[in-house]
Amino acid sequence: MAAKEFPKLKLDKSMAMFEEAKRLSPGGVMGIRRPYNFVQGEYPIFIDRGYGGHIVDVDGNDYIDMLCAYGPIILGYDEKEVNEAVKRQMDERGFCFSLVQPAQNELERRVVDLVPCAEQVIPVKTGSDATTLALRIARGYTDREVVLRCGYHGWHDWCVENHGGVPASTLALTDEFEYGSLESLEAKLEAHKGKVACVIITPVGHPLAKPVEEPTKAYLEGVKELAHAHGAVLVFDEIRTGFRASLGGAQERYGVTPDLGTFGKAMANGYAISCVAGKREIMQVCESKVFVSSTFFPNSLEMVAALKTMEILVREDVPNSIWKRGTKFLAELRGEQPEPAGRAFTMPR
Ligand SMILES: Cc1ncc(COP(=O)(O)O)c(C=O)c1O
Repeated sequence: MAAKEFPKLKLDKSMAMFEEAKRLSPGGVMGIRRPYNFVQGEYPIFIDRGYGGHIVDVDGNDYIDMLCAYGPIILGYDEKEVNEAVKRQMDERGFCFSLVQPAQNELERRVVDLVPCAEQVIPVKTGSDATTLALRIARGYTDREVVLRCGYHGWHDWCVENHGGVPASTLALTDEFEYGSLESLEAKLEAHKGKVACVIITPVGHPLAKPVEEPTKAYLEGVKELAHAHGAVLVFDEIRTGFRASLGGAQERYGVTPDLGTFGKAMANGYAISCVAGKREIMQVCESKVFVSSTFFPNSLEMVAALKTMEILVREDVPNSIWKRGTKFLAELRGEQPEPAGRAFTMPR
């Protein structure tokens, strides 16, 4: 089929801002937002605003944002209820203190209610904070150092894809296995026998630059059995799947509960918050042995945003609606007949 011709986008303002950005900051914009990751000259760089599922660039071009800001925008860009809750907190209470506000307990209670592995919760800020904390907890709990990983887990030293600036001694403690292959995981566990602190895996496979792979329950169960047989903590990195694959994450959808889970992105519809949730026995190393603290971790604006986002996700049954629409969209792209009702999922609770 001949590709449809579209007029070339006008991107003059984006390009001019990018020239200035390169003078102000190395490379202008960081990492995956750099133009070389896209079709150069055919993709905007600076965004002016967002509304609903759309973004508008500084040249006035309007797009449907299929990336959802790399995941967080699960309810749309101008979700009034979430923003109003945040404004109320800002105006009536404030949000940055040396001590914690009650919103923290409320949020942790909500995560415990929704997420199967969550007996205790630690709120942090970014996905990389959460995956790195999960690792530290696993190392503290097992008194071991090696980490087996699979997929993208953030920009911190132990897992960054580009090794510039990272000590070789840090990288030597992390080894990768192949998503979908229990043999690959078993071989790595054998190679590092008795030294593996944790196996961290994105339950739905999305190794960098490879297609997304849906797991079978048997595969995730196999990963869990192998990790436990070797005395390692199993961490599901649910930064992408959390509050999206189902309300309780991929662990709920596929029925396999890990020891620890990391959540972020969709959790607060764009506000910067993430968390580690997991079994009390393991999380308890943070009572004294393992240190976790940051000036902004207890800030409550993001907690209030997360609470409101979760309320809407539950009330509107958002994950099911995403599955239905996604299934229909994929079927149409493939030229298949969509199932009339999509692929609905009943939450097992
Ligand atoms: C599975 C997964 N883990 C961790 C991260 C890191 O999160 P952040 O970019 O918020 O640090 C990402 C980010 O895309 C991710 O997809």
